Amino acid sequence: MAFDPLLQRQIMGRFATGVTVVTTSCDGQLWGMTANAVMSLSLAPPLVVVSVDKSASMHGLLQKAEGFAINILKREQEDLSVRFAQRGPKDFADLATKVAQTGAPILADALAYVDCKLVDIAGAGDHDMFIGECLAGEVGSGAPLIFFGGQYAELAD
Ligand SMILES: Cc1cc2nc3c(=O)[nH]c(=O)nc-3n(C[C@H](O)[C@H](O)[C@H](O)COP(=O)(O)O)c2cc1C
Repeated sequence: MAFDPLLQRQIMGRFATGVTVVTTSCDGQLWGMTANAVMSLSLAPPLVVVSVDKSASMHGLLQKAEGFAINILKREQEDLSVRFAQRGPKDFADLATKVAQTGAPILADALAYVDCKLVDIAGAGDHDMFIGECLAGEVGSGAPLIFFGGQYAELAD
């Protein structure tokens, strides 16, 4: 019998994560997508990975883009997580950003970011894993936004 996808969501939802906005630039179009299926994959070489739903617009853009940036959100940035979890074109006009080497927009107030060159795409069911080689990044200060059990949370002080 097929494993219940709701149960899988409930189980993996107990794995508390941070929240990121993965951004890219493709043919002059800026895009961003809230993502928590993100991880550090290798230190030598320095690789990170993000798992992207094949039905997301971001999926098609990342296939054509030079790379992507992972922006790790602060606890005060739940609104950005909600905003970039909506499907369809993303408006960056009111956001303070800078342009990364790959052309991806970096959210100025992110807790940390890494800009990556796309080096591989690994197929995995209804998602693909986009593997990026780290080119540049910065660490800021503050507390992370947490996602746990399908809800936003924050670390206890
Ligand atoms: C907390 C959170 C984490 C998410 N993580 C992922 C993820 O890792 N991969 C993914 O494909 N979608 C993820 N999503 C869903 C996407 O953000 C959502 O489908 C987005 O609207 C896709 O936009 P697009 O189709 O315009 O590219 C997440 C949503 C939320 C709220």
